[in-house]
Amino acid sequence: MSIKRVGVLGLGLMGSGIAQITAANAGLAVIALDSTEASLRKGIDSIRKSLSIMAGKAIAKGTKDKVTAEADVEKAMGLITPTTDRFALKGCDLVIEAAPEDWEFKRKLYQDLRSFVRSDAVLASNTSGLLIADLSREFGDPTRCLGMHYFNPVPLMSLCEVITTPTLSPRHLDSCIALIKAQGKTPVLCKDSPGFIVNRLLVPFLAQAIALHDRGAATTGDIDTAMKLGCGHPMGPLQLADYVGLDTTLFILQNWSKAYPGEANFAVPAGLKAKVGSGMLGRKSGKGYYHWEGDKAVKPVE
Ligand code: 3HC
Repeated sequence: MSIKRVGVLGLGLMGSGIAQITAANAGLAVIALDSTEASLRKGIDSIRKSLSIMAGKAIAKGTKDKVTAEADVEKAMGLITPTTDRFALKGCDLVIEAAPEDWEFKRKLYQDLRSFVRSDAVLASNTSGLLIADLSREFGDPTRCLGMHYFNPVPLMSLCEVITTPTLSPRHLDSCIALIKAQGKTPVLCKDSPGFIVNRLLVPFLAQAIALHDRGAATTGDIDTAMKLGCGHPMGPLQLADYVGLDTTLFILQNWSKAYPGEANFAVPAGLKAKVGSGMLGRKSGKGYYHWEGDKAVKPVE
């Protein structure tokens, strides 16, 4: 694999998970960039917490002894260099961008990126709602731009969607696929298109569950229990919408409904707008369709 050093741009929920699997599973050095020391500290703390949970599980299962498991955590942490200096990305073969899903913010970021990544570095976006063609146009070199879309929680979800464009260099595609496999994930390929595979199917499903709730057809708890017990989903759709973030779900739907006016699958349910408008964003704000304590949905908000 030609990728030896990876930059992760944005150490939020997704970026910290990507940094974690790159260091812990692929064993590669990671430069983790964020704009403030506080956001870096939060990201690094969440990586350590997740690695410690996994180490505890390995010890309990007997697949690792305590000394090895703890040494592995320290080894992975030692591979991650947090920084607020964007020029530190100059040493990276690949930069994975996991910045907030805000078009104006990303537009400016991609316009600036060429000045602080190497001239042969590959640029992958973890965007869930924007098109790679739009981002790569701002970056200025579409031969080295692609999507690498991971799923939340990154350390546990096995998939990475690889988003390709007709201009992407096959050599860069191959090295990113090799990296994804080394991270312990399964790659699937999708052409650049709204929502790629998972979100194109998942987000309309979440929106339908919210619309069902808006109509008062069933309670939050019963909608979720129905899909868990009736279809074997690990989380019901309203809990999952909270988990993903109601603001993220709304952002994706609003973008698509603007781009595809009249497409019923992308209609924004009134209840979603109302929750986001009142600051109920789901897990990240502690309240959405559920009351949350950390990663746990405690009880429905009715
Ligand atoms: N790191 C390490 N371990 C973790 C973890 C993390 N970040 N998060 C949870 N765990 C561990 C827990 O400690 C727990 O361990 P235990 O079994 O030893 O107690 C185990 O994972 C299971 O967690 P929980 O008991 O809290 O809950 P669940 O059994 O429900 O599993 C889940 C949690 C894996 C998140 C599962 O509910 C699930 O798969 N949910 C669906 C998630 C999903 O669909 N994600 C995709 C969202 S879409 C997306 O991301 C795209 C974006 O663009 C919108």
